Amino acid sequence: MTHAIDPADLTLEEKASLVSGADFWHTKGIERVGLPPIMLTDGPHGLRKQAGEADHLGLNASVPATCFPPAAALGSTFDPELAERVGVALGVESVIEDVAVILGPGINIKRSPLCGRNFEYVSEDPIVSGVIGAGLVRGIQSQGVGASVKHFAANNQEDDRMRVSSDIDPRPLREIYLRGFERVVKETQPWTVMCSYNKINGVYASENPWLLTQVLRDEWGFEGLVVSDWGAVNERVPALAAGLDLEMPSSGGETDAQIVAAVRDGRLDESVLDLAARRVLALVAKAGEASPAGAAAPRVLDVDAHHALAREAAGRSIVLLKNDGGVLPLQERESIALIGEFARTPRYQGGGSSHINPTRVDTALDAFRDAAGDRVSFAPGFAFDGSDAEHLREEAVALAARQDVAVLFLGLPDAEESEGFDREHLDLPAAQLELVDAVLAVNPRTVVVLSNGAVVALPFADRVPAIVEGWLLGQAGGSATVDVLTGAVNPSGRLAETIPVRLEDTPAYLGFPGSLGHVRYGEGVFVGYRWYDARKLDVVYPFGHGLSYTSFEYGAPTVAVGEDGDLLVTLTVTNTGSRDGREDVQAYDSLPESIVERAPRELKAFASIRLSAGETREVSLAVRREDLAYWDTRVDRFVVEGGRYRFEVGASSRDIRGTTIVEVAGDDVRLPLTMNSSIAEVLAHPVVGPAVQQQLSGMASLTDGAVGADIMEAGALEKMMASFPIGRLAGFPGMGVDRAQLEQLISAANAPEE
Ligand code: BGC
Repeated sequence: MTHAIDPADLTLEEKASLVSGADFWHTKGIERVGLPPIMLTDGPHGLRKQAGEADHLGLNASVPATCFPPAAALGSTFDPELAERVGVALGVESVIEDVAVILGPGINIKRSPLCGRNFEYVSEDPIVSGVIGAGLVRGIQSQGVGASVKHFAANNQEDDRMRVSSDIDPRPLREIYLRGFERVVKETQPWTVMCSYNKINGVYASENPWLLTQVLRDEWGFEGLVVSDWGAVNERVPALAAGLDLEMPSSGGETDAQIVAAVRDGRLDESVLDLAARRVLALVAKAGEASPAGAAAPRVLDVDAHHALAREAAGRSIVLLKNDGGVLPLQERESIALIGEFARTPRYQGGGSSHINPTRVDTALDAFRDAAGDRVSFAPGFAFDGSDAEHLREEAVALAARQDVAVLFLGLPDAEESEGFDREHLDLPAAQLELVDAVLAVNPRTVVVLSNGAVVALPFADRVPAIVEGWLLGQAGGSATVDVLTGAVNPSGRLAETIPVRLEDTPAYLGFPGSLGHVRYGEGVFVGYRWYDARKLDVVYPFGHGLSYTSFEYGAPTVAVGEDGDLLVTLTVTNTGSRDGREDVQAYDSLPESIVERAPRELKAFASIRLSAGETREVSLAVRREDLAYWDTRVDRFVVEGGRYRFEVGASSRDIRGTTIVEVAGDDVRLPLTMNSSIAEVLAHPVVGPAVQQQLSGMASLTDGAVGADIMEAGALEKMMASFPIGRLAGFPGMGVDRAQLEQLISAANAPEE
């Protein structure tokens, strides 16, 4: 039994051997004590288990597995339960293939739409990322398989990803970039967390004790194992000391020897190695408890059932961006010009380590033919390699002119979007943009369907009557798209990232991807919609946006604070249309009178609700008190500021249907007063503030006396004095306060509470 093995049973060399991989995908076993190796493999939206010789470039094919919608799509479902069901399926496929840990989900924040790996990430918002990420982990781990939440942390670009330092202030780091990870760790105890390649404020994530030990373990209570991203270890011994347990892949024994030497010459305390080795042993034991060898019957992949789930999840991920004049759903008798190579050759996943060998692939062309028979005619419209552009366009335009409606599949080619590099612009290929206008000119009933892993510019948004955001939808994306276009599925996906007007409008535009080894997150907490709203910028489609074939009406929201401090936002929602459908109800908060900079609204809770036509339901959205908190740099912790919070409930961040206000009691942040505390800070102090207030109002000199009456209005003078350090008052003759009095005041303020 593997779980009985203790580091004390092992030699120093054996322990060191445990903390790096045997090869690309396995840990090392130790035969002498009966310890088996286990397999960790990609992830995140399907299993990439290489059958033959392993290699990092994915040159060798992997065993067929279901390719579920990548995170960019799944995030648009706004539905953690659906994410959990996908997680269960990922877990089942891992068990069948004897994989102990699947390397995902990836929950990094989409800081810039240019990040080449955004298709693998959930959202620009930490609550959506955390909630969907937690759903996936719960599902995976329910099957006795470990998840690996990645890439921890602040890995928001591919450019120079193995070295760049993400330079981030404490507030955005905690409130935006770590918040999703914190939720997933606290709620689900993932078996592993994968540390990222990059540095954070100058220190490699892999050798960052603050990140891997203080934050992850001491503050959040993480009990699992930290694994390096593949090749993320810079210096092995400091990495081990920082809390990086398992180095992957193999170092050929080199770093194991470094660890042994460091213990022998006293540079590394052996207990540090013991701790990491114990975590590896615990992981192997957990995997052993659930391995198929112990299962009652061998399990075989139910390809059809998982494909059906992939189709359901893809259908739920699709976002109907625009539908003027009810062009969609397509009508039963309409003849359809299906245009665009993507309809025949779908792009349904991204490039890099997440690339899955699917069990099958649905194309929209086949699915359309099944659904609409010979009402559908196809023209590729363009070629991925750009060849024959004019001829292909002319042929497509001629087809579009003859049919009732044109459905145009556009998107980003594989080569433009992948792990390993970032995009340089947001544009679709020029040939596709030309095609849109040419088709529109002959057929105003044109629908554009997009295939892209991250947002693209939509210069035709006001000309094309219907636009469908299809992301990369996994292997069943083709049929799922046709389900939505024909109305078999009523669209309910929502944008988990804003579609901006121009790249120049995006929050990180001036600071992405950085230079000289550093990228400065200068936009601070104003990431995604927080930025566009604060700057009052127009966007093409806002965060949270997505249409339906039915309509929903919202009742007035109320909000109540529970005994535990958590809040409940409640409202009724009615499906006022004639079709059954889902609505994603979103609750945003703001605190207009805050002491820190805040966005005009921040998503705090959401729910995906299914309502039959005509049905009314009460919807309750739970807001955790801790999600109201800002990171207070004065005390280095999250603080809930007291005040009147405004809660907005809406169908998107810019389609607010109701507002309600609630008074929230703040956390007690008592800072010691000093001679440099401002008069405003002294006045706000709970112990001495009231007395000082009284004294000041009696002090003629401050309001209408000699000091300023001749140069400023009383109100302006008070404002100026608010930021005046109290100690300086002693230096002003005529103020009536001396140093001794101030010292007395400060010590009264700082005296321990009775
Ligand atoms: C990626 C990880 C992946 C690992 C193993 C790395 O390059 O960043 O996401 O899990 O390779 O393939």
